[in-house]
Amino acid sequence: MWRDTELTRTLGIALPIVQAPMAGSTTPEMVAAVSEAGGLGSLGAAMMTPDAIRDAIRRVKSLTARPFNVNLFALTPPEVDAEAARRGAELMAAYRRELALPEQPPLPNRLMEQFHEQAEAILQEGVAVFSFTFGLPSADWIGRFRKAGTAIVGTATHPAEAAALAEAGCDMISAQGLEAGGHRGSFLKSFDEGQIGLMALLPQVRRACRLPVLAAGGIMTGEGIAAALALGAAGAQLGTAFLTTHESAAHPVHKAALPQAAEMGTEVTRVFSGRPARSLRNRMLRELQPHADRVPPYPAPLALNAQIYQKARAEGLADFMSLWSGQGGALCRTMGAGELMARLAEETDTAVALLAGRA
Ligand SMILES: Cc1cc2nc3c(=O)[nH]c(=O)nc-3n(C[C@H](O)[C@H](O)[C@H](O)COP(=O)(O)O)c2cc1C
Repeated sequence: MWRDTELTRTLGIALPIVQAPMAGSTTPEMVAAVSEAGGLGSLGAAMMTPDAIRDAIRRVKSLTARPFNVNLFALTPPEVDAEAARRGAELMAAYRRELALPEQPPLPNRLMEQFHEQAEAILQEGVAVFSFTFGLPSADWIGRFRKAGTAIVGTATHPAEAAALAEAGCDMISAQGLEAGGHRGSFLKSFDEGQIGLMALLPQVRRACRLPVLAAGGIMTGEGIAAALALGAAGAQLGTAFLTTHESAAHPVHKAALPQAAEMGTEVTRVFSGRPARSLRNRMLRELQPHADRVPPYPAPLALNAQIYQKARAEGLADFMSLWSGQGGALCRTMGAGELMARLAEETDTAVALLAGRA
C-alpha cells in the first residue's frame, strides 16, 4: 500500500521514489534506469546548454517511455561585481600558485546559462515533470508548462516558500531538509531561516499548502523512505544515495570519498560556489570557511575558480573540488541505479511490514 500515493497516481508510476536532479552528476542513463525501475528519474539540467538539454532528453526518451523530470535553477544571473571578483580571486591566489595556474583567473563574459533558453528547450522537447530550485519562475513560464500538461515541482526549505510556490501554480513541492546534499534551495527566506531538518519541515510544508510533498534530505535507505511516507510525504527524493551508482557522473574521487562522510563530516558552505551547499569537509572547505564572507556571490566563484576545478577534475584532486554530500553520505552503496531502486523498494516493504506488525 505504501506504493499508492498522490505522486504515483498522478504520474502513473509504480514507486514513490524520486532520484533527485543533480546538476553535473545525473546522466540520461541514470534517469532512464530509475524510471524503468518504477521511480521518477530526474535530469539536473541547470548547467547544460539548451542544445545539450535537448540531446539529453532525447537520449532518455530513447531508453525509456516512462515519465521523467528535468530540473533547472530558477535564477537570474547577477552582474559580475569587479571588486567582489578581485577579492574572491585574492582568496584563491595561494591555491593557484600551488596548482601552477596563471596568477589571474580569466573572467568569462557569461556566468551561467540563461533560464529562459533552457526552459524553452525543455518545453519544446516535452517532458512529464519540470522541477526547479533557487527561486520561482515567472507566471508566464509557470503558465506555459501548465498549458503543456507538465507537472511542476518547486523546491522549498521553509513553509512560507511552499505557500508561495503553491500560490504560483506548482503541482508539487520538494521539501528540502537541512540534511540534504548540494545547494540549498532557499529563495524567499534567508539561508539561516531555511535551515530546518526534514522531520520538522515536512509537516509544516504540508500545513502551509495543500499539495503533494516530496521529502528530500538525508534519505538513503528504505527505512528512510518509510519514515518520509509516515510523515505524510507523497514521495521520497534521494540525491546522495545515487551519486555512487554506476550511472552517476560524479567524479571517481568524489565517489570514493562518500563512504568516509561520517569521518570527514559535512558542512553547509558558500566557499565553492558563493551559495550555501552541503559538501564533505575537504581541505578547501576547512581552509576557506573562516573567510567565507570574502567569497563573491553565486555563481561568480564557479567562473573565477573554473581553472582550479578543471585541474582538480583532470588530476583527481579531492582537496580542490566540491564534494557535495547529504548527511547520510556514509550509507552510499555502489551498484546500478536500477538495482538500487529494487533494494530501496525491498527495504521499504520490510520497514513498513515491521511497523504494521508492531501495530
Ligand atoms: C551532487 C548534488 C547535486 C545537486 N544538484 C541539484 C540540482 O541541480 N537541482 C536541484 O533541484 N537539486 C539539486 N540537489 C539537491 C537534491 O535535489 C536534493 O534536495 C538532495 O540531494 C536531497 O538530499 P540527499 O542528498 O541527502 O538525498 C543536488 C544534490 C546533490 C547531492
